[in-house]
Amino acid sequence: MAASNPTSPEGAAVLHAAIVMDGNGRWAKQRGLPRSLGHRAGVEALKRTVSAAAQTNIRWLTVFGFSTENWSRPAAEVAELMALPKRYFESDIERLEREGVRVRVVGRREGLSPELVRIIENAQARTAHNDRFFLNIAFNYGGRADIVDAARRFAAEVAAGRARPDDLTEATFDSLLATADSPPLDLIIRPSGEQRLSNFLLWEAAYAEFVFQDVLWPDYGADHLKAALAAFAARDRRYGAVIPDDVLAAG
Ligand code: IPE
Ligand code: MG
Repeated sequence: MAASNPTSPEGAAVLHAAIVMDGNGRWAKQRGLPRSLGHRAGVEALKRTVSAAAQTNIRWLTVFGFSTENWSRPAAEVAELMALPKRYFESDIERLEREGVRVRVVGRREGLSPELVRIIENAQARTAHNDRFFLNIAFNYGGRADIVDAARRFAAEVAAGRARPDDLTEATFDSLLATADSPPLDLIIRPSGEQRLSNFLLWEAAYAEFVFQDVLWPDYGADHLKAALAAFAARDRRYGAVIPDDVLAAG
């Protein structure tokens, strides 16, 4: 990730937010529906939430679509999850393109079908020129896998004689991660009532604020996002330091 957050043309702080899209299965179960329909409803929630986020000071949004651990789900469910990017892009890529959203799918390509890789590459190419809003979809992504991949890439540079071990700093390591092009992560939102990171953005989460919300992802929308941003705005981010008022009070 870049060293610091840019500001919008108006000078307002712009945010990089992340969402663990969770609760599709429970949403379906509550309605007596198959889990697949929960996942499809989750795609609709993603569309709503990207539109809503573009109206806020969020400018980078990274969503968790499929984790490296999700392969252990039943084959039929894995197949349904693998079909979601196609479903999403087929129904929304024109709007994303038109509204200035640049889409990136981050995660390992190994294990994805050639057709899915083509769909992903096509969505990325169609929106590559956009710069109003940045949507990263983590798919076949795991925080640990991403860290291991970055370490491997650096080790290969050392083995090839192009880098020395001391060249590795937090900043250079950062630039080897899947999120290298995005600014530091400000906020991680997890709906569905679960309160854990589940191997999402492990490195990037170092100073992010967490907001957990009791809503299942297929029900998520603009009002939930607003509530998450309000909770974020009330936080006191110190990055391990003290705020000036406290220094004065202590003095
Ligand atoms: C999120 O919903 C979708 C993915 C993790 C891919 P879940 O499928 O995890 O839904 P729950 O947690 O079973 O409700
Ligand atoms: Mg879940």
